[in-house]
Amino acid sequence: MRLAGKRALVTGGASGIGAATAARFAAEGAAVAIADLDGAGADAHAVALRDRGGTALGLAADVGDDASVSAMVERAWDALGGVDILVNNAAIPMVGTVETLAAGEWERVLDIDLSSIYRASRAVWPRFVAAGGGVVLNTASVAGIVGMAGQHGYSAAKAGVVMLTRCMALDGAAHGIRVNCVCPGFVETPMAMAYFDAQEDPAASRAAADAAHPLGRMGQPDEIAAAFLYLASDEARWVTGTALVIDGGLTAGLPPG
Ligand SMILES: NC(=O)c1ccc[n+]([C@@H]2O[C@H](COP(=O)([O-])OP(=O)(O)OC[C@H]3O[C@@H](n4cnc5c(N)ncnc54)[C@H](O)[C@@H]3O)[C@@H](O)[C@H]2O)c1
Repeated sequence: MRLAGKRALVTGGASGIGAATAARFAAEGAAVAIADLDGAGADAHAVALRDRGGTALGLAADVGDDASVSAMVERAWDALGGVDILVNNAAIPMVGTVETLAAGEWERVLDIDLSSIYRASRAVWPRFVAAGGGVVLNTASVAGIVGMAGQHGYSAAKAGVVMLTRCMALDGAAHGIRVNCVCPGFVETPMAMAYFDAQEDPAASRAAADAAHPLGRMGQPDEIAAAFLYLASDEARWVTGTALVIDGGLTAGLPPG
């Protein structure tokens, strides 16, 4: 068990990558608080993990709201007897160009996809300092490394996540706080499926996404959870400030010809 005795709080833990991460952490011995805007989904996932012998609880929380984030951290801390690992994973998609994006959407995506990470990290930070350390893990994206057409707000937010990760790593090092992020390529989750379904030809859009990855397919949520597991574990005790790209080769370079 690679996380025996650890306690983790995972935001956006009711679905997709967050759900897979919470499940993998629980399977590796961690007690897990699953926080999500979808409180019923978080509860249901916690029940499923408990049925498999894990220790888990669900929390309704909105990472876009200061008071909700403070309450989320406090409830997780009380219920688990502390938190060692915070996974800032919740995010929303944003599709549109500079010209077509609806009013307020730029502010919303930056708030939910970037500021929320600062918000939740700030809520745990003094507790981690007092505890002598902790681990903060953030879900960025390949969209934070290369630009994505039609997703300027999402890409800008994710690039911000990569840099926020590095800066928090520098600030946290003296306190024993490690901060890293993972940059997934396209991963088959409800968020990605909703994106494809909104395209004119969803099947062609999915096929193009598969083909864009040199390994020939999109990723699966558990393939991202495996990266989070490594970064959360003591095996990564000398790893901080890293943006770990898990993308089937998507950002490695250009195809031949
Ligand atoms: N799926 C991909 O292709 C892909 C690729 C790169 C990065 N990511 C990132 O992975 C993370 C997880 O995405 P996913 O694909 O698993 O999506 P998902 O939609 O399956 O899961 C996201 C979860 O976040 C929750 N959430 C949304 N807003 C919230 C809020 N304000 N407060 C609390 N919870 C909220 C949703 O309810 C949902 O359960 C995101 O940060 C996303 O940007 C996804």
